[in-house]
Amino acid sequence: MVRFGVQRQTAGAYIKIGENAAAARENSSLAWRTSKIDYAPVTVLIWTSAVLIHRERRHSNVSGQPNYTARPRRTNENDILKIMKILVLGSAAGGGYPQWNCNCPNCAGLRKGSINAKPRTQSSIAVSSNGTDWVLINASPDILQQIRSNPALQPARAIRDSGIAAVMVMDAQIDHITGLLMLREGRKKMNLYCTESVWDDLNHGLPLAKVLSHYCGVERHAIEGLSADETHFAPIEVPGIDGIRFHPMPLKSKAPPYSPHRNNPGPGDNNGLMIESIATGKKVFYAPGLGEIEPHVLQAMQQADCVLVDGTVWTGDEMITLGLTQKTAADMGHLQVSGPGGMIEVLDGIGARRKVLIHINNTNPILNEDSAERATLAQHGIEVAFDGMEIEL
Ligand code: MLT
Ligand code: MN
Ligand code: ZN
Repeated sequence: MVRFGVQRQTAGAYIKIGENAAAARENSSLAWRTSKIDYAPVTVLIWTSAVLIHRERRHSNVSGQPNYTARPRRTNENDILKIMKILVLGSAAGGGYPQWNCNCPNCAGLRKGSINAKPRTQSSIAVSSNGTDWVLINASPDILQQIRSNPALQPARAIRDSGIAAVMVMDAQIDHITGLLMLREGRKKMNLYCTESVWDDLNHGLPLAKVLSHYCGVERHAIEGLSADETHFAPIEVPGIDGIRFHPMPLKSKAPPYSPHRNNPGPGDNNGLMIESIATGKKVFYAPGLGEIEPHVLQAMQQADCVLVDGTVWTGDEMITLGLTQKTAADMGHLQVSGPGGMIEVLDGIGARRKVLIHINNTNPILNEDSAERATLAQHGIEVAFDGMEIEL
């Protein structure tokens, strides 16, 4: 330790006077007056370089690699709870973009670099009021990649840590739940918010909750308290996520194909979410799977400052036309973006507010940023979500 201290002090002297080691020995009050003196400059230079390189690694993010040791931006005490941050982790529908086995014009075009489009991971967002503690909304099969791409989700407060305080899932679709398995190394039980219907699928149809009981375990928090008119569940506040209130609501759609209650739909199979900043009253409405604009959905969209809604397909038969499936968008529980009754028409009818399409299928022409369809969206003031998009309210 003493030797370390001497080297440190000597470093200053040597750096100040450059290469004149003899002068340094003379001038420095802490010169290392031992037989090892001739090694001192070399040791010192190596030590100084190591410190500088280490510092550079800690603070630099220029390589584009996640900076795991950096703390997220700390907000002023007064700002906390007033800013609600939504981070789009995955903006694509199931399969992602490009989809592993797909050679549709979009997927092939992206691989070849012949179209202007960005790759996208599967459906998920994260919500925070302080930039450190997050609620993950939907657990995408791409969650590990999403965490790597978003350093804010890794605050690095301990040797094993995560900014994800809780997970809330909107349905039990493969693209919204299989990421739960990737979070199995968690040191505490996973806080999972879901409806009874989704919990049933997670214990029977695709029993991930049972599987996870052999790893981190699951602390299930119920999305419950359905209103008499079956349009709202009770609001939720998540411990550790101050200043945000979540308002889940049932949406008309189907349970996933594997579900035992696929042909017996009920409230809670598919849900939308109003995310509200308690301090400011600002709201975001999130619904990646919207099959039908029911009155309570329209009302939620009209009350929100920003809507993040189903942009899966441009036309209802787009996947049939490409020869990919026999199912229409309606069969899959998604409203098409274009045409009569489509999402553009719906969004045109809800007045001025931020309008963002999310859960984009790889076949949708809006993924091509130079497409006529993308220009049409711009004319209607509609944005297309992308991975890494941040919305602050
Ligand atoms: C959907 O949104 O329709 C489903 O997530 C599709 C899927 O993942 O298979
Ligand atoms: Mn989906
Ligand atoms: Zn494709």
